[in-house]
Amino acid sequence: MISALLLYLLAAGFIAVLAYCLYVLHVHQKYDHIPGPPRDNFLLGHTPSFSRSMQSEGLIHDQLLQWAEDYGPVYRLNSFHYAVIVVHCPEATKKILMSPSYLKDPLVYKQLFNLFGKRFLGNGLITAMDHDIWYRQRRIMDPAFSSSYLRSLMGTFNEMSERLMDKLDEVATQKTPTEMLKLVNCVTLDVICKVAFGVDLNFLTQTESPFQRAVELCLQGMVMYLRDPFCRLFPKNWKIIEEIKEATELLRRTGEEWIEKRKRAAENGEDVPQDILTQILKTADEEKVTSSKDHEQMLDNFVTFFIAGQETTANQLSFAIMELGRNPEIYKRAKAEVDEVLGTKRDISFEDLGKFSYLSQVLKETLRLYPTAPGTNRWLHEDMVINGLKVPAGCSIAFSSYVSQRLDKFFKDPLKFDPERFDASAPKPYFCYFPFALGPRICLGQVFSQMEAKVVLAKLLQRFEFSLVPGQSFDIKDTGTLRPKSGVICTIKPSS
Ligand code: HEM
Repeated sequence: MISALLLYLLAAGFIAVLAYCLYVLHVHQKYDHIPGPPRDNFLLGHTPSFSRSMQSEGLIHDQLLQWAEDYGPVYRLNSFHYAVIVVHCPEATKKILMSPSYLKDPLVYKQLFNLFGKRFLGNGLITAMDHDIWYRQRRIMDPAFSSSYLRSLMGTFNEMSERLMDKLDEVATQKTPTEMLKLVNCVTLDVICKVAFGVDLNFLTQTESPFQRAVELCLQGMVMYLRDPFCRLFPKNWKIIEEIKEATELLRRTGEEWIEKRKRAAENGEDVPQDILTQILKTADEEKVTSSKDHEQMLDNFVTFFIAGQETTANQLSFAIMELGRNPEIYKRAKAEVDEVLGTKRDISFEDLGKFSYLSQVLKETLRLYPTAPGTNRWLHEDMVINGLKVPAGCSIAFSSYVSQRLDKFFKDPLKFDPERFDASAPKPYFCYFPFALGPRICLGQVFSQMEAKVVLAKLLQRFEFSLVPGQSFDIKDTGTLRPKSGVICTIKPSS
């Protein structure tokens, strides 16, 4: 009796595996007319290449760039029964990203709902795939990013950047090299906590902040979760996975506390700012989330802004400092512009920002070479012809800003850091430059982040001279977002 059951189970298992393998074969046949690198193996497709790159600390984006050069503007990757088509065609980029009908790819974004079983970005702004759910949230959030509201944030941008200047004064007096990435990270965390959530934490005075570590762990978790589906199986990863789960809980617990505090303040008739947290409360109201039920929807957006609203800008700033340190002529020109606009003035006004045209070019070129959030994906729900190739429906379309922005056909001499590419007289890049994504799902914090980055960088150039400590690497570290591997170690002295 038992052996008959065992036999039956074995036969059923065998048939299931066979059926799955036939399905994988069908997917291969459906997309194999599209060129692509050889699969590592039948079932895993190209996944082992991704795992190898992660283990060797290589940059998966350089591998994608190499494949784009080898296989052209439309190439195929496989992972199990999924096909991912990587596209670097301006026309297709425009058609797909600019349209609301191509939704975010559920394979990627659904996975970020939870991180190792703990709710993470849930149905927040970045991960919401359903157009209506996303659109309602975005519309409510818009006032916190309107130009009049952003204008009112100049005081906070100035104040938080001044804390960095005070810290750099100390560093300059001590004459010790300092890691700029760490410092600018404190500024952008201070800014998002104050501006988005009305909480002042002054991270520059803290030696080790659990929040910075938590953001880092969550990003690391995202990369592990998305690129290495088997990571949970290996005991060597269990400790870090536990830490990632705790980090996720810390962010959500903090969100819970801050949201409750804000709700009480509003109920008591206190004067609360019309900031991101207030808008997050409104999204919950609109979705009819009651306090007796749960706050998961609000917490999703709390975590979304904590993760999205800070680290990418800090990384951009540190890459900009790295490139200014490597390019004395560009440094000189940026400083000259800042001195001309600001003189000895302490506070930077909204109007001043508009006069930093070369500084803007430097920041744009920084995001060209180092798009700190390096791409996005969409789900292809209908057949499409891309660059003459028929791409059948039912696959993911990947857009890598890192690859597009480093292709010679779009940007001559692509590895050269050259802000002139963004001079007003230069031709505008045509759907091949998209560090903030494009279309309806474009980054909500684009203007916010670039205002913040300009204030920090302009003050730094105005007050200090920085130079890179020799011998450090200029490599990129892939933590989901991109950051400079070295941390950008500088010596600092007051500006003469
Ligand atoms: C240099 C800084 C930044 C870069 C390069 C950047 C880049 C991006 C990119 C590429 C996306 C699309 C993500 C995807 O499709 O999966 C995105 C989305 C988003 N970003 Fe940013 N971001 C930056 C700063 C910020 C800041 C400061 C905030 C908030 C204060 C923010 C909030 C968001 C939000 C809410 C979304 C989702 C938008 C939606 O789908 O409606 N970002 N960002």
